[in-house]
Amino acid sequence: MNVVILAAGQGKRMRSDLPKVLHRLGGRPLLAHVLDTARELGAKRICVVYGHGGEVVREALDAADVTWVRQEPQLGTGHAVLQTLTFLDDGVPTLVLYGDVPLIGAPTLSRLVEAAGSGLGVLTEELENPGGYGRIVRDGDGNVLRIVEERDASDDERAIGEINTGFIAAPTAALKRWLPALGNDNAQGEYYLTDIVRLAIGEGMPVATAQPDEAWEVLGVNSKVQLAELERIHQHRNALLLMEQGVTLLDPERIDVRGELDCGRDVAIDVNCVFEGRVVLGDGVEVGAHCVLRNAVIGAGTRIAPFSHIEEADAGRGCSIGPYARLRPGTKLGEDVHIGNFVEVKNSTVADKSKANHLAYVGDATVGRNVNVGAGTITCNYDGANKHRTVIEDDVFIGSDTQLVAPVTVGRGATLGAGTTLTEDAPPDKLTITRVKQLTVPGWKRPQKKK
Ligand code: UD1
Ligand code: CA
Repeated sequence: MNVVILAAGQGKRMRSDLPKVLHRLGGRPLLAHVLDTARELGAKRICVVYGHGGEVVREALDAADVTWVRQEPQLGTGHAVLQTLTFLDDGVPTLVLYGDVPLIGAPTLSRLVEAAGSGLGVLTEELENPGGYGRIVRDGDGNVLRIVEERDASDDERAIGEINTGFIAAPTAALKRWLPALGNDNAQGEYYLTDIVRLAIGEGMPVATAQPDEAWEVLGVNSKVQLAELERIHQHRNALLLMEQGVTLLDPERIDVRGELDCGRDVAIDVNCVFEGRVVLGDGVEVGAHCVLRNAVIGAGTRIAPFSHIEEADAGRGCSIGPYARLRPGTKLGEDVHIGNFVEVKNSTVADKSKANHLAYVGDATVGRNVNVGAGTITCNYDGANKHRTVIEDDVFIGSDTQLVAPVTVGRGATLGAGTTLTEDAPPDKLTITRVKQLTVPGWKRPQKKK
């Protein structure tokens, strides 16, 4: 099929400088969700109708399989689809989607296309409160006659509960006849896409209807309130999918997946965690409350304690991270590594069985196996102009409150005494210490306050 996505509306009620379809749902632009659905349906052509000032939309979501068609001025939904006609393949039907209705599902749309057959198909819904929508007018036998917009409707027509969701499947050759013939003699002075129903009936073409699998699929975003409502629906669905895959969520209402979360078996996630980009959690991983993980791969059996922040970092199997740990981009932890509270690791590798359990900064470092990084240890990686690396070889023990002034290497098996400021390489297997010798001053008295 051809898919036309209408996205030219300004979205005034968002009260934002960002075009409406670039506002994010689950961390991705509204329009990106609709494009995904079009691709899932195997669309042959995808045309996006964008409007004045919408170049940023095009730049944000440009792709080889998308044709961008600018609509300026915007004279209605019929006028919008009209702009795309030259790009549509007559041999397949055309499906009209909306850039601001992001949760529409491919199964619902497939059923709409199937119901339409070689005729016209309209996705409709029965609403208790149909105010604002176009109504589906049927004859005594239940055949669709036309769609009437709220503003053009009579009182009787306004009492109709069946509404037009806006999603339409139409034979492409017919669209090419109908759309140039639309008039705009209506309350809004717009070229209504919905008027094609009357034209189809006039030609004796059957008009079929289908309904969405779920009512929320057809909800649109016109305001920040609606955006927030759809976000909750989207997150609830993410949570259900994860639980169906066997993930334990301590509260499915308190997880946010803004991207892709790939979980192994027996993964458990406590409340208020946020996952961004692509995150992979291996078998048996436990994520404590209030963690944020972004583009991270976490090995099997690793436990992440509460309030940890992990960004563009990987951890091997059986690690222990947090609470209050921060793994910054370029961090790679081996197996069974311990990174404890208030430890920050950046652009560093830490090999198997090494530990930094308390209050440390490990930046631009290569840390070997079985290393113990004492509390308060800092790699001084930045000289004010350039970054330098610290190398800590296997089996090193670093005493507390040590500064490693990079570039510097601590040899295999070395021990650094507490409080050391290391500016030159420390030899292997020896104790290196830079503290002054402890001294007790005989006869020293504390100063007294003068009377
Ligand atoms: C439309 C339908 C109405 C339906 C409702 C469902 C028409 C005439 N009416 O009404 O029957 O119940 O959707 O929400 O189609 N757009 C453009 N270019 C334009 C005009 C609109 O791209 O010139 C886009 C908008 O960005 C929006 C969508 O089309 O995403 C719908 O337009 P809107 O003006 O909101 O239509 P409604 O009045 O809600
Ligand atoms: Ca609307």
